[in-house]
Amino acid sequence: MKEKALNQISWDQFTKMSAEEKSPYFLTGNGTKSYHALVAQQFSRPMLEELCSLATYVRRIAKTREGCSFLQSRLFDKRAMLYFAQPSTRTYLSFDSACQTVGLDCMNVRDSSTSSEVKGESPEDTIRTFSSYTDLIIMRHPAGGFAERIAWLLSNTGRPVPIINAGSGKDQHPTQALLDIYTLERSFENIGGIDGKKVAFVGDLKRGRTVRSLAWLLAQYSGVKLYFVAPPELQIKKDILAQLDEAGVSYEVSHDFEKVIPEVNAIYMTRIQDEWDIDNESTRIDTTQFYFTKEYLNVLKKDAVIMHPLPRRKEIDVAVDCDPRAVYWRQVRNGMWIRSALILSIFGCDRRVRDYYEEHVQ
Ligand code: NCD
Repeated sequence: MKEKALNQISWDQFTKMSAEEKSPYFLTGNGTKSYHALVAQQFSRPMLEELCSLATYVRRIAKTREGCSFLQSRLFDKRAMLYFAQPSTRTYLSFDSACQTVGLDCMNVRDSSTSSEVKGESPEDTIRTFSSYTDLIIMRHPAGGFAERIAWLLSNTGRPVPIINAGSGKDQHPTQALLDIYTLERSFENIGGIDGKKVAFVGDLKRGRTVRSLAWLLAQYSGVKLYFVAPPELQIKKDILAQLDEAGVSYEVSHDFEKVIPEVNAIYMTRIQDEWDIDNESTRIDTTQFYFTKEYLNVLKKDAVIMHPLPRRKEIDVAVDCDPRAVYWRQVRNGMWIRSALILSIFGCDRRVRDYYEEHVQ
């Protein structure tokens, strides 16, 4: 997947492409590294492995004051803009912490009603303005594909800076998927890694962007089997299943949660994404049989894990939290490390971090 330049393609041609076809435009280093991080499809297996190992180096280096100071001096000369046009605390703070870990100064816009967008400025112009002040834009937006639009726009008519998609509409949340992969990798470290594992996605799979991105990343691992467990109205969309078919990944679409639980190595719970409801439609769907209750802990495999991108509602009983297989709070912490790793890698600091690790930590 050799890189291609975003300023050599028209917006019209670009929008007609699939996420996989777009991916080479987001890469650098002969297609081996991310310049932008916009879609899950741009991450190959070697890229995932490299980011996970870099995240571990960062995590271990950050244990000492000297290590923290080394990390903070990587990008002290750069600035990041956090543009979050959708509610967020977790992802926002995770990126904010990641930026602080690597020494990036952060500016933020968290509410577009405080920007000139209220004076009638287009969001595109607003972000074009930000790009004059910053070296990296991390953005969350309710419109699917908006981050891609900005990457294209800045490459063609602005000051090009890397863009990280921190959640776009109902379609993608690539950095959540990276932290999920990192968590799975760490959880299965002693039982052969992610290859060959069975992962169940449960809840609102139709509108949950985290599941869509993670399903694609899991397709990079051999012998995995995915289970999509949801009421029919909230089942995973056909486009994801078609991608899995093409990648030769085996999967099952089910509504029998109880049957799936003892079979799998990971259960990825999600909340009902009712902010997308048009006519309160999700209030008419009974989702209670898709809740993970404390009783289910007895049938879950001993070395399985329970995950959730958070925020949680009632889909995981709080009594489950103290079970060692519940790893959702660990996911949150892993997010900070993998996002730090991604930013370091985008700015080409990965080599220096590895050298420091080998010299001072190993
Ligand atoms: C998710 C999101 O925003 O898509 N949250 C997150 O980033 N951790 C999941 C959700 O909101 O349900």
